[in-house]
Amino acid sequence: MGLLSGKATCNTHGQDSSYFLGWQEYEKNPYDEVQNPTGIIQMGLAENQALVEFMSEIRGNKVTFDTSKIVLTAGATSANETLMFCLAEPGEAFLLPTPYYPGFDRDLKWRTGVEIVPIQCTSLNGFQITETAIEEAYQLAQKRHLKVKGVLVTNPSNPLGTTMSRNELNLLVNIITEKNIHLISDEIYSGTVFSSPGFVSIMEILKDRNCENTQVWNRVHIVYSLSKDLGLPGFRVGAIYSNDDMVVAAATKMSSFGLVSSQTQYLLSALLSDKKFTQNYISENKKRLKQRHRKLVSGLEKAGISCLKSNAGLFCWVDMRHLLRSNTFEAEMELWKKIVYDVKLNISPGSSCHCTEPGWFRVCFANMSEDTLKLSMQRLKAFVDSITTTLHNQSNHQSIKNSRRRSLTKWVFRLSFDDRVTGER
Ligand SMILES: Cc1ncc(COP(=O)(O)O)c(C=O)c1O
Repeated sequence: MGLLSGKATCNTHGQDSSYFLGWQEYEKNPYDEVQNPTGIIQMGLAENQALVEFMSEIRGNKVTFDTSKIVLTAGATSANETLMFCLAEPGEAFLLPTPYYPGFDRDLKWRTGVEIVPIQCTSLNGFQITETAIEEAYQLAQKRHLKVKGVLVTNPSNPLGTTMSRNELNLLVNIITEKNIHLISDEIYSGTVFSSPGFVSIMEILKDRNCENTQVWNRVHIVYSLSKDLGLPGFRVGAIYSNDDMVVAAATKMSSFGLVSSQTQYLLSALLSDKKFTQNYISENKKRLKQRHRKLVSGLEKAGISCLKSNAGLFCWVDMRHLLRSNTFEAEMELWKKIVYDVKLNISPGSSCHCTEPGWFRVCFANMSEDTLKLSMQRLKAFVDSITTTLHNQSNHQSIKNSRRRSLTKWVFRLSFDDRVTGER
C-alpha cells in the first residue's frame, strides 16, 4: 500500500456512485455460457481477450496474460502517465536508462510532477545497463533528496533499437527486489524484433525465477500499445498490464480520461481475433523491417558512418562522432542543424534523448518508401564527402600552421639561445 500513490489509494474518484454499481456487480459475477450461465451479461464493454492473446503471440506464447489484469488506455503515452499517477507522488522519482525516448519528459513528468533521474549508459558496452550505473543514479536521486519509486525501461529500446539481454533483465529484478521499488517495462516495440537475439519480456524472467505471487511480481508493470507493432498510432490503443489489483483498479478509474472508443475496440477485437491475419502481418512486418534496416546500414556504411548493432525497432542509433568539430554538445547541435537545414533530413540528436556522449543520432528507416530512403542516403553521403574534405583541408591547414609555428618556435628558441650563448661568451 505504501508503495502506491495517494491518488491510487484514496477514495475520491466517485466510484461509489450507483452509476458504477452495475460494472462492479458484473466483475463479481460475470456471465459465462458454460461456467456461469446465470451471471450478469456485460453489454457495455468490448473484451480485452483479443489483445492479451495478441500480446502472448508476440512473446512466442512463452507467457500468457490475464484479461482481468489489463487496463486499456489511449496509447502508451496515457499508459505511462497513468502508471506515474498510480505509483508516485509529485516530487518522487523514476530512474531511466539513457538514451531514452524524448516523449518521456512529457509523459512521465509534466502533469504528474514526477522526476526522472538518468541511469547513464555509454557506448563502451553498447549502452547496456550496469549495476554500477543504476547504483550511481540511485545515489544521485538521494543526493537530490528524491525518493526513488522505480525504474522504467523500454524493451526493445527507443532510440537504440536493441533488445535487453537476460542479464540486464535479471539485474533489474535484483535491484527492484533489493530496493523495494517498482519496475515498468515499456514493451511497445516487442513485435518489431527482426533478428536475433529474440525478444525476452520481463514477464518471462519473472516466470523463470518463480516470482509469481511474490511482492516483486506485484511491482512489475508492462506498458503496451498497437501504435508500433500494428502501425496504428492514430487509433490510440494502449494498455497497462499489472499483477497488482490495486494498480489495476486505480488505473481503471483513471482511464476515464483516456478511453479507447467502443467503436475502435469493436473493430480491433475483430482484427486481432483473426489469428491468420495477425501472424502474417507480424512476420511480414519483421521481414520488411529487416530488409529496410539492412538498406539503411549499408547506405550509412557507404557514407563512412557506422551505427550500434541493433535487432529491433524502426530506427538505428547512428554514430557521427567523427563528423563533429569538437567533442561537445554544441558541435552536435551544429552538425544537426546542418543535416536538418542544409541536407534536409530530419533526424534526432542524441542530446534530445539525454545521451551523455555527443555525436549520436537516431535515424528512422521505416516511415518512407525505399526510393526516399535511397535519396536520403545519397544526400547524406554527399554531405559527409563535403564535410570530410573541409575537415581534411582544415586539419591540413592546421598542421601546416602547426609546423610553421614549430619552425618559428625553433627559430625564436635558436635565436634566443644563440643570443644567450653569445652573451655568455
Ligand atoms: C518507448 C515509447 N513509449 C511510448 C510511446 C508512445 O506511444 P503511443 O503512440 O502508443 O502513445 C512511444 C512512441 O514513440 C515510444 O517510443
